[in-house]
Amino acid sequence: MAGRGHWRLLAASAATLALVVPLGWLWWASLVPDTYSVMEMGVVDLGGGPATTGHDAHDGRDVSTLTGPRGGSPDVEVTLVARADAIDLGEGSAVGGYTLNGTSPGPELRLTRGDLVEVRLVNESVPDGVTLHWHGVDVPNAEDGVAGVTQNAVMVGERHVYRWVAEDAGTYWYHSHQVSHEQVRRGLFGTVVVQPRSATGGELDMVAAIHTYDGRRTVNGRVGESWREAAPGSPVRVRVVNTDNAPLHTWVAGTPYRVVAVDGYDLNRPTEVEDTSVLLTAGGRVDLEFTVPSDGTAVRVGTGVADTSLVVGPQGATPASTAEPEAELDLLDYGSPAPLGFTLDDVDRRFEYRIGRSPGFLDGMPGLWWTVNGEMFPDVPMYVVREGDLVVMTIRNDSGDVHPMHLHGHHAVVVSRDGEPATGSPLWVDSLNVADGETYEIAFVADNPGIWMDHCHNLPHATEGLLAHLMYEGVTTPYEVGGEVENSPE
Ligand code: C2O
Ligand code: CU
Repeated sequence: MAGRGHWRLLAASAATLALVVPLGWLWWASLVPDTYSVMEMGVVDLGGGPATTGHDAHDGRDVSTLTGPRGGSPDVEVTLVARADAIDLGEGSAVGGYTLNGTSPGPELRLTRGDLVEVRLVNESVPDGVTLHWHGVDVPNAEDGVAGVTQNAVMVGERHVYRWVAEDAGTYWYHSHQVSHEQVRRGLFGTVVVQPRSATGGELDMVAAIHTYDGRRTVNGRVGESWREAAPGSPVRVRVVNTDNAPLHTWVAGTPYRVVAVDGYDLNRPTEVEDTSVLLTAGGRVDLEFTVPSDGTAVRVGTGVADTSLVVGPQGATPASTAEPEAELDLLDYGSPAPLGFTLDDVDRRFEYRIGRSPGFLDGMPGLWWTVNGEMFPDVPMYVVREGDLVVMTIRNDSGDVHPMHLHGHHAVVVSRDGEPATGSPLWVDSLNVADGETYEIAFVADNPGIWMDHCHNLPHATEGLLAHLMYEGVTTPYEVGGEVENSPE
């Protein structure tokens, strides 16, 4: 009576079970606890260096002790009030988003090298809470602004004080590192300029922060053509900041120019280029220097979108064309070599950051997710270093998409791309454009103890698991991702 039907059914359910049980296991194994410490996440990677001994682990430092100077009166004191707000983009368009002191971008922080800065962040009305991360500024770890790693998110009605010294001149930016994939896109950011102590003088110095709000590209929060008046013959520095998730091309049209700095670091002996664009990775900055032509025409700084640009020149002048140049500058052989301060013969640790993509479960969600060294979040690397280590990291991208890789708290020099050594000026970056199929070797000195994110700055990719951490041995954090304050750095 049981007959064939019964057996067929049994066989079918066995086959289903054979499929479902391992899938169920994969699903279950992918679940990330609601609250966790990043210290317990990931796969420890010592990069060939010595392991932490039990003793070292116990005389460790808590990140909350790794602050900037707590005493002393600040040279620059700012209060930044975060709000859920409407953002006016000019030309009659506005979008809903987040502002700091009523604007997006928030106020530009203009500092002089050596300044002690005190920023009081007040959350008036951003429901998920906020933080401020000083992108590219190598601040002490407790000032880094990563919710759940270096602090708790600042909830509505709360405040948080950041204090740090502007050690390095250059162009940087700040943004929230709480629910950052949503908050940055919707306006919670601003720029930071640290001027050298002895400014060269006479140069017109301006920022061009490029951001796309709701599909509309802007310069300094304005759609369309932004004008800055400058007399013929004036020297100009434009600090271009890419606050978007994707790389863009920028250039100067109408006169030759030089790329004088990348990610806050001056290039050595940059030469003049013309009719050439430069790739600006997401999160990255380039400083472009030129002279306003003496024939009364105006210069245009392109953003990669024809109807949005910055025009610099005399009032009423005709600006240069909006067409994007065909030639692209390769920063790896631009400028002249200079000493790095170390040699690659004495590397203490070597890490790999191989980016891939594979089907699987991310916190129980089926999908095609990013992998790091073949594993999906949370099994991503925890790179462990000791203070003073010289580190080489190989970043390889086989994921089918470009990734702007951003290491917090450090600048790394680009050693090679696809096995070809860099031959130009040392290129020190905090944000590196790694296109599909590319392999970069970068080197840095571990000179800033803490626990630092090392993630893709296409911020939705970070929420999809494209992140890792760099941890100094013995450093611990009392903060947790998730938890009562719902820290959510990505
Ligand atoms: Cu600009 Cu981790 O971020
Ligand atoms: Cu990415």
